[in-house]
Amino acid sequence: MLVDSFGRKITYLRLAVTDRCNLRCQYCMPAEGIKIVERKDLLTFKEMYRITRVLSELGVNKIRLTGGEPFVRKDFISFLDMLSFNDKLDEINITTNGALIAPHIPKLEQLNIKNINLSLDTLRADRFLKIKRRNLFHETYKVFENLLESSLNLKLNVVVQSGFNTDEIVDFVSLTKDKNFEVRFIEEMPFNGSGQRDMQENWDFTKILAEVQNSFENINAIATKKSATAKKFQVKNFKGTFGIIPAFTRTICNDCNRIRITATGMFKNCLFDEGVFNIRDFIRQGASDEQLKNLFINTVQKKPKNGFIAEANRLSNGVSESMWTIGG
Ligand code: 5AD
Ligand code: SF4
Repeated sequence: MLVDSFGRKITYLRLAVTDRCNLRCQYCMPAEGIKIVERKDLLTFKEMYRITRVLSELGVNKIRLTGGEPFVRKDFISFLDMLSFNDKLDEINITTNGALIAPHIPKLEQLNIKNINLSLDTLRADRFLKIKRRNLFHETYKVFENLLESSLNLKLNVVVQSGFNTDEIVDFVSLTKDKNFEVRFIEEMPFNGSGQRDMQENWDFTKILAEVQNSFENINAIATKKSATAKKFQVKNFKGTFGIIPAFTRTICNDCNRIRITATGMFKNCLFDEGVFNIRDFIRQGASDEQLKNLFINTVQKKPKNGFIAEANRLSNGVSESMWTIGG
């Protein structure tokens, strides 16, 4: 089983299936000049399947597929099909920007995908273009509506960006009055490829919650699993809920149960670390399942206590990676 040196059990894998994306969200990527990795350097689906199988034998029972945008990778749906045969996995979740998924929703329902996290940072088409640098608001909003009608459990990701969308926090919460979904406000992190940007205001957890409390009375906290990243709330008598993810203030690390693997096979113990081991190379050198297991068991031992320590331990200066290479 996978247990780190602080006694935290690792049960959740976030796996990036590609580094490519059809959008260019400003908090994630620069507008131009992105260097995508060569195809041969990406893990193949076979390799990903093997990694998840081995990890699931070590107690991982939840997986989230991310990117880049997972649906831009050819044969992603067949990969989901394959994964769904692994009965050690209780949950398969996907984070997507939604733009390409409309035709696949029935298939996702059939495969029993548990949670779909849809990135939608604004409810206004002009802002969508500014934030995501592609003119796909209407397509994405339509997918939001389709997902609401589907049997899938929907979460809407909103990265709270000072100077761009903070005046829509209340609008998003208002949407949960009649619609049964969870909107999740995520603190912006400096993973945009060029480091910390200048912000006029610091929109952290406390400020986001205060903004909601200013407009709604009777907000109740809702209990969540210990390892949940979001603190969850509900306005009284609303159908949906809202959550706030302290991604940058990092107050949730004590209960972390997750590891990450990037599209090129880099194993990460923490969102803020640099990657500790390349599994792809190890596999391509002919590693056995036993060797892979030992590698995972030993590597998890090095999981840093929290995201601040992980950040401090980085060899390169500062955190200037991009979320699309880390795997959102
Ligand atoms: N800060 C916070 N969240 C981010 N994401 C991507 N980049 C950042 C960032 N810099 C999140 C978005 C998206 C998911 C893939 O990762 O919410 O929904
Ligand atoms: Fe693409 Fe997601 Fe990054 Fe936006 S946040 S550019 S949708 S990978």
